[in-house]
Formats: sequence, C-alpha cells, structure tokens
Amino acid sequence: MARSHSQYVCQQCGFSQVGWAGKCPECAAWGSLVETIISSPSSSKADKSSPASQPIPLHSIRSSKTKRLSTQIPELDRILGGGLVPGQVTLLAGEPGIGKSTILLQLCQKLSSSLYISGEESVSQIKLRADRLNIKNKNLSLLEETDVDSILASIRSYSATRKLQVIIIDSVQTLSTADLSGMAGSVGQVRESAFRLTQLAKELSLPVFLVGHVTKEGAVAGPATLAHMVDTVLWFEGDKDADLRLLRSIKNRFGPTDEIGIFTMADRGLLSVTDENIFISDHAQPVPGSAVTCTLEGTRPVLVEIQSLVIPTKTPFPKRIAQGIDPKRLEVILAVLSRRCALPVYEKDVFVNVVGGISIKEPAADLGVALSVASAFFNKPLAKNLLALGEVGLSGEIRSATLQARRAKLARRRGFSKLVTHQRVPTLKEAIRQYLK
Ligand code: TYD
Ligand code: MG
Repeated sequence: MARSHSQYVCQQCGFSQVGWAGKCPECAAWGSLVETIISSPSSSKADKSSPASQPIPLHSIRSSKTKRLSTQIPELDRILGGGLVPGQVTLLAGEPGIGKSTILLQLCQKLSSSLYISGEESVSQIKLRADRLNIKNKNLSLLEETDVDSILASIRSYSATRKLQVIIIDSVQTLSTADLSGMAGSVGQVRESAFRLTQLAKELSLPVFLVGHVTKEGAVAGPATLAHMVDTVLWFEGDKDADLRLLRSIKNRFGPTDEIGIFTMADRGLLSVTDENIFISDHAQPVPGSAVTCTLEGTRPVLVEIQSLVIPTKTPFPKRIAQGIDPKRLEVILAVLSRRCALPVYEKDVFVNVVGGISIKEPAADLGVALSVASAFFNKPLAKNLLALGEVGLSGEIRSATLQARRAKLARRRGFSKLVTHQRVPTLKEAIRQYLK
C-alpha cells in the first residue's frame, strides 16, 4: 500500500518543505506554498520498476461514439454540446447567489436518479428550495457532508445499489480531507478534494458537477488548478439584481466553448430562454433614441435594443454614461458623429444603455449605438422594422460585421426587413441622412 504525507510545495519553483511558511525561501514568492500530498519514495520506486504503460498505435484504437445524457434543460444542453458524457466532471462557477444551487437542483428534477451532496446547506434548507422549485422527484437523494473521503465512500456504496445519472457537489470549497492539515477552502484542500472526486467520476463513469464560488476578484479558489483538472468549466454570470443569467462555457473537452445559455430567474427557478428577442423592449410605437442591432454571444446571434438619451449639458465636461457597451467605444462613436456627421454632441450629455443587462463587447454594434444616439439627438424615432449592423470606422465609413449573413438571417426572421449595413449605406452620415432626416 502506498504511503504518503503532506508537504508545502511552492507552485512557482517547486521547492518543498514540511510545515507552513508564508513565503517561499527559494523564490521569495508569497502565498505560493500549497499543501500537497507527496507519495513516499518507496512507493514511487515501486512504480518505476513496474512495467511501464505501453504506447498504442492510433489506428488500432476503435472510434467510440460518445453517448450523451440530455439534461432536459435546453440551454444547458446547448452549452454542454448536447448533454452530459459519462464520467464528465463539470465545474460550475459563479458568484454566491447567482443561481448555481438552483439550476443543479432543477437538473436533479429532470434526471431519473441523482445524488445531491451539500457541504454548504443543511438538507432542510435544500428541501425548502426544492419545495419552491416544486421538485417532486422520488429518486433524488441528499447528503450533508464535508469530508471528501466519507463522500467518496458514500458515493461508492450508494451507486452500487442503483443506477445514478448525476452527482452534485455543492460546493467544492466546503470539502476537506484529513490527509491535509489546511482548512476547507484552502487551495490544497480544494485541489485535493476535486482530484479525488474527479478520479471517482472517471472510475464509475458518472457525470459530476462541482460547484465553485467565485471570489470578488473573479477567481474560483484554487482557480488554475481546478480548471485544468476538470473536463468542463461553466461560468454563471449576470446581474444578481436583474433576472437575466448567462451560462458560458469557458472550457469543454466534450463540446463547444463559444456557446452561451440564456436563462431568467423566475419565482420558481431558472427558465431557459430560447427566444432571441428578449433584449428588446416592447414599444407600441417607435421611440426616439431606440435602435435594434444583432450581437453575437459566442456563435449565437442575439437581437438587442440600444437606448440613448441626449440632453443639453450644464457642465464644461459633458457626461458620457454607458451601460452594456464600452465607454471608450462610445467616446469614439461620439467623436465620429461630431466630426464626420456634423452632430454637435460635444455640447450634450449622452446616456446609452443596452436593454436587458447584456454586455456588448464587439464593434458590430457601433452602427446601432451611433443611430440610437443620433435618433435621440434629433428626437426622431427610427423605423420600427429597422436593424443596424456594422462597425463604424474613424472616417465615418460603415464596415461589415463578422458572420453578417447569420445575423441578417435572424433579423429577417424576427421581422426586421430594413437592414442597415455597409452594403446599403457606405457611411454613417449617409445612414443618418436616409433614416433620420
Ligand atoms: P442560489 O441557487 O442559492 O445561488 P448560489 O447557489 O449560486 O449561491 O440562488 C439564490 C438566489 O436565487 C436567491 O437570491 C433567490 C433566488 N431565487 C429565485 O429568485 N427564484 C427561485 O426559484 C429560487 C430557488 C431562488
Ligand atoms: Mg448555493
């Protein structure tokens, strides 16, 4: 039997020592000493003398088609690439309160048999949430435990008697093993707990979800270590005060990484949003300052409405407030409006907002932002069926957007028959002349 002990190992230079010291004596890095399990020399010697693993010719390996288990939650399936793969370990990361426990409990309702292990909440707290979500699945069992070795033993014995479909660990930061002396939540404990669970997931071919809380700085405890250990990293984000939640796949060994899932948090849990129109407000009549564009979230086109308000400024430095777009990009667009289109926006306060709490990070929305500001400036609405698409250059020219055809297709499908793109108008000035004057 392999003997092992724990030591502090520097993550920067590899220096190791017994006992804790805040600073690495070798490379002087602070906080890089992480408690790690070290196998005893005798066991590693035994490993060396045992026959080495044999390389296998590629052509002799039979191709296997991955059988996926649908989560029955359309937006979750979309980012997983069609469903869960046996033995897949997924880290679900996000800020506290964003909805991680909620979505996983909803997943347990959909699947035929699941085990929800909580180190964070008591079973009665989970029951309260389950009642709120109207979860009635008789094959969902709960376990309140924080000792990872005891969790491993429970999973083994529990899965031996029934066919489990998924295991949830909520959260990995609450787990610890007695083999390490660090506290639960320390990098060493989180890493070792995740490692042991990952090994078991592979051994039993069971999909496992690890919940990971994100700290204020935006990192999961033991961030890099966990991300490389698991198969999939899903990032839950959104404005906790607004209902919108976006689930992004940051890493996925079994599927795409450029997809997003869109949800809204309702009274009874998270609802998948499959309608790409949700970022558009429902005006009965066209409103000045409102322009619709199409942005890409991953490879998925989403229609968004941009709203602007332009008012005379009372200060020597006009206000520029941007929500959902980069304030620097807004400055550039205002400079182009002022210089190339003769719009004296320099004497106005400008407020721009993207509806629905979504953030646009690509230049394809420039034309939408520019037309929205111009429409607010003239206090004249754009046509209701108009959709603006394209980047605006510094000389006022309109450039094509990436994957323009895909965006245009969605726009037409949603009834936006008047597409303003570089193919229709060459410059922003001309677009303003045609659609706002
Ligand atoms: P939770 O899943 O506990 O977040 P996390 O596990 O990421 O910390 O979600 C908590 C928030 O979600 C809380 O503010 C209440 C809200 N919520 C709803 O609005 N509707 C619901 O049906 C549920 C279960 C929670
Ligand atoms: Mg939770």
